Amino acid sequence: MVRTALHSPCARLHSPHGQGFLPPREPVVVVCHCELVNDRTISEIVSGQVLTVEEVTDRCGAGGRCGGCHESIERLLAASETRVRVAV
Ligand code: FES
Repeated sequence: MVRTALHSPCARLHSPHGQGFLPPREPVVVVCHCELVNDRTISEIVSGQVLTVEEVTDRCGAGGRCGGCHESIERLLAASETRVRVAV
């Protein structure tokens, strides 16, 4: 059997543009299914700030419809708030 680079276990870590290895990234999790907003987007919006769910909704739409994601958004906000407090 001939194994090509595409079948290598490391193939998925190669950059598609030939720039070497890419570090593995954590999977993206959809937080708000109504607006299709993921945890990475919310974390970037919240980064370094202390925001409310309503402020997150204003900035990206997450949480603006059924409200089923409010707990998840609040957990991301709490984690960010902790990092802000530790950084101060
Ligand atoms: S899942 Fe976010 S508003 Fe419905």
